[in-house]
Amino acid sequence: MLKKKGMFKLGMLLTASSLMLAACGSSDSDSSTGSAGEGEKITKLVAGTEATFAPFEYMDDKGNVVGIDVDILDAMTEELGIEYEIRNVGWEPVFQQVKNGELDLGASGITITDERKETFDFTEPYFEATQVLVVKEDSPITSAEDVKGKKVSVQINSTGHIAAKDLLGETNPDIMAYENLPIAIQEVINGTSEAAIGDNAVVFEYLKNNPDAKLKVIEDDAFAKEYYGFMVKKGNTEVLDLLNEGLQKIKENGKLAEITGQELE
Ligand code: ARG
Repeated sequence: MLKKKGMFKLGMLLTASSLMLAACGSSDSDSSTGSAGEGEKITKLVAGTEATFAPFEYMDDKGNVVGIDVDILDAMTEELGIEYEIRNVGWEPVFQQVKNGELDLGASGITITDERKETFDFTEPYFEATQVLVVKEDSPITSAEDVKGKKVSVQINSTGHIAAKDLLGETNPDIMAYENLPIAIQEVINGTSEAAIGDNAVVFEYLKNNPDAKLKVIEDDAFAKEYYGFMVKKGNTEVLDLLNEGLQKIKENGKLAEITGQELE
């Protein structure tokens, strides 16, 4: 996990995931919760998310889930001519409910990882991210190495959690895992932990929205690049192909880059 940046080519990632897909493409495709049954055309998808992750997913004052992931789903499903619904079910339930078929997909800033690929399939990547540290403005911590021996807070089972385990050791009690990233950051503000580890764009957004929190971000090349993808149950090629088709269309027409502000290779 803690690799030097720059060595990782997106092309390699795509090749690896295409092979993965080819390898498991023959299994069943019964897991769609949308209205379509076997062989019928999908007309609606049900997505799940954890909406405390601005700018990717958060609640507006009317109680709607909004953000970059929602904008991408809007654009994709418009191209595909299908409907979708997004449910704010919570982080760990996203994984459980995609697995048990209650949800067709996870749309939650989910990083494509080899471990997750054992249980799920992912679309092509749509966003590049990395982990960063967030500490108090006057903290002596200046690098990832510096958190060793300190209390670190993370969102449970996130890639930030994995990065913390890589740094501090798998079972280190100094790692404190919470339901979502804002709580993990709140612990830094409270002084319960000395650093939080989370996704860069989300941490920067948090600081922008909480200027009085007196926090700063520390970037470190020790944190590898990550790529977000939409996640389906392993073997659900019907939904996966549809999502990749929609994604491809909005990559081609420039809509994806417009939404994310990023141009992926
Ligand atoms: N990208 C990180 C991961 O996949 C964190 C995602 C958290 N997403 C959320 N909506 N809370 O582990």
